[in-house]
Amino acid sequence: MIVFKFPGYETIARELRKAVSLYEARFEVGRYANQELHANIEQVVCGQHCLILGTIAPPDESLLSILLLGETLKKEGAAKITAVLPYLAYSRQDREKPGESLGTAWVGALLKGSGVDQVLTIDVHSERDKQLFPIPLISLSTNALFAEIIKTHGLIDATMVAPDDGAIGRCRAAMKAAGMPDAEIPHFEKRRTGKGIMHSGPIGKVGAKAVIVDDMIDTGETIVSACEKLAMVGTQEIYILVTHGLFTGSTWLKLWSLGAQCIFCTDSVPLRSGIDARKISVISIGPLIARGLLEENGRIAAGAQ
Ligand code: R5P
Repeated sequence: MIVFKFPGYETIARELRKAVSLYEARFEVGRYANQELHANIEQVVCGQHCLILGTIAPPDESLLSILLLGETLKKEGAAKITAVLPYLAYSRQDREKPGESLGTAWVGALLKGSGVDQVLTIDVHSERDKQLFPIPLISLSTNALFAEIIKTHGLIDATMVAPDDGAIGRCRAAMKAAGMPDAEIPHFEKRRTGKGIMHSGPIGKVGAKAVIVDDMIDTGETIVSACEKLAMVGTQEIYILVTHGLFTGSTWLKLWSLGAQCIFCTDSVPLRSGIDARKISVISIGPLIARGLLEENGRIAAGAQ
């Protein structure tokens, strides 16, 4: 396989190379003087399986760069193109709502139209995303990684808490992977309003030590609101396990005054520069992606498309 790696994905690429035979291609996506994007590959790709490793998250240039590179690889005869997008941006736009964009279907169509054959991601926002995608969307789970954190940080006796309905399944899966006894997952009911997040709960009993599991922390509004409510019911120590650490803006910083001890996240998104990462523990998902690619190769060798 040949990998086309965008900046910020060096650690993942290094981990991939340890496990999978990969050739790292030289390429450039630059701009003409009038700012039009232009892709240039220095690699023969005819008949090859090409991986594009990067993100389609804002700035919008990232999405356009990946589309243009995909188009160029297909034009040059790549046999198969897998976009490895550890964080699948736009995946929260996964419900049909009158008058609103359905972003996940839209990016799926754009990727397909630009020659991408499949997308490999980590902990996609919902199963609906897979149904809305016009090409295979393979989502690898971080359950085993989260279980390891729970075990090595002495969190087996903590209460697992879901900050909204959507996270209940993630909590239960992490609990199971960590070998914790099955139990009801205390959770919150969440509504987004013009004034921000309206949270009610926790529904269920939470002890003095809690672990919040979610797919992402973006602005942090969801988890801050959950932590405020947990503080009211006497929870003192909170550990946060999220797959994608976007850390947009500064709301999430309030977590440190609400009992949060540490935020564990993966490197699915390069950590935003300039943020104080002292209590953020970043785990590489390189080995997980490598295993996913090896399984995928095995499947192809066994005759699947
Ligand atoms: C929502 O459905 C997601 O699972 C996250 O809870 C949410 O998108 C996080 O966003 P924020 O950190 O901005 O509240």
